[in-house]
Amino acid sequence: MKKSNTHNKQQIGLRAFKAYYSKQFGEERWNSLYKSLHLPKKHSCLLNKYSTIVTNNQDLGLPADAKQVEFLTLPCLSCDEEISHPSRDDSNLVLNYYVLDAASVMAIEALDIQQKDNVLDLCAAPGGKSIAIMQKLSLVEGTLQCNELDSARNAKLKRIITEYVPFAYQSKVNVTRKSGSLVFNFPNNFYNKILVDAPCSSDRHLVQNADEMAKWKPKLTETLALTQLSLLVCAMEKVKVGGTIVYATCSISDAENDGVIEKALANKRGASCVVVTNEREYGIGEPTKHGWIVLPDDKKEQGWGPLFFCVLRRIESAVKEDEFNDSSSDEEEEGVQSDDSEENK
Ligand SMILES: C[S@@+](CC[C@H](N)C(=O)[O-])C[C@H]1O[C@@H](n2cnc3c(N)ncnc32)[C@H](O)[C@@H]1O
Repeated sequence: MKKSNTHNKQQIGLRAFKAYYSKQFGEERWNSLYKSLHLPKKHSCLLNKYSTIVTNNQDLGLPADAKQVEFLTLPCLSCDEEISHPSRDDSNLVLNYYVLDAASVMAIEALDIQQKDNVLDLCAAPGGKSIAIMQKLSLVEGTLQCNELDSARNAKLKRIITEYVPFAYQSKVNVTRKSGSLVFNFPNNFYNKILVDAPCSSDRHLVQNADEMAKWKPKLTETLALTQLSLLVCAMEKVKVGGTIVYATCSISDAENDGVIEKALANKRGASCVVVTNEREYGIGEPTKHGWIVLPDDKKEQGWGPLFFCVLRRIESAVKEDEFNDSSSDEEEEGVQSDDSEENK
């Protein structure tokens, strides 16, 4: 009896999920995408610049056929076989690579990190994208703040940083545990690069997990979109004029991707930003209204993603303080004021 109840719930969730996304993507694309979401996740390994074990596949402990992911410039290898655990470098005790989806590295390359940048990784745990940021950033000339609200995940983030950064530089990475939606948690006029890798519906994980699928309803993606909007609006206010934000999710939902960008751009309370996603080219994936998305049924290289990202640049605000006060006094803007209740749990 109990078993069939669980099965029913899973079927209801799955039906709602399929109906929602076949409407967004159209029947034909959705069928191909849905199938590809079931493929085993593809992995690549991003080499750690702080490790001296970076000479060849054998030294790295990788299969002989592991090769550079062509659409990336950072040293990142992939192969058909599963990638084994990284090994520790005897000389400075760091791990030699980090295993992650190559599309995540693409999002970091879109942030165009320079050695002297002051970077905020707003939602950083477990830390894969922070490790990718460090591959470009100098921890001597630049700064990196890795923020994560959830305490268990924050602890994991700290552990990952100690595993990948040599002891001498560990104090240069500032790990904080603040709500990324609250502007007063972060200094003004300091960061010139911000990554908002927002909590999202993780649809590939969902289709491979029947228990979570049983809980799926459209409200889930709509609620997440509100949290995502509050994080992005905070980042827009905190990035310096001329600075860059990459907003990313591993969701396929328009509501969590372009929908959030659209609301953030229209938000009168936030700072002014323009979308600059198209200023560079990306090897795989496809354009969306404001961003870029890598889906696992990609025509060129199947299996990576889903990963959506949008690149935004802050500009001088065209709206004067008085105009802002006049127009904002009598309107409530969706999501922006709502802090994450998680902090108060
Ligand atoms: C997609 S994950 C980040 C993955 C990470 N960037 C990486 O590459 O390993 C999103 C993270 O945001 C955290 N989060 C959720 N709400 C937050 C908030 N208000 N402020 C900061 N972090 C938050 C979640 O706990 C989760 O760890």
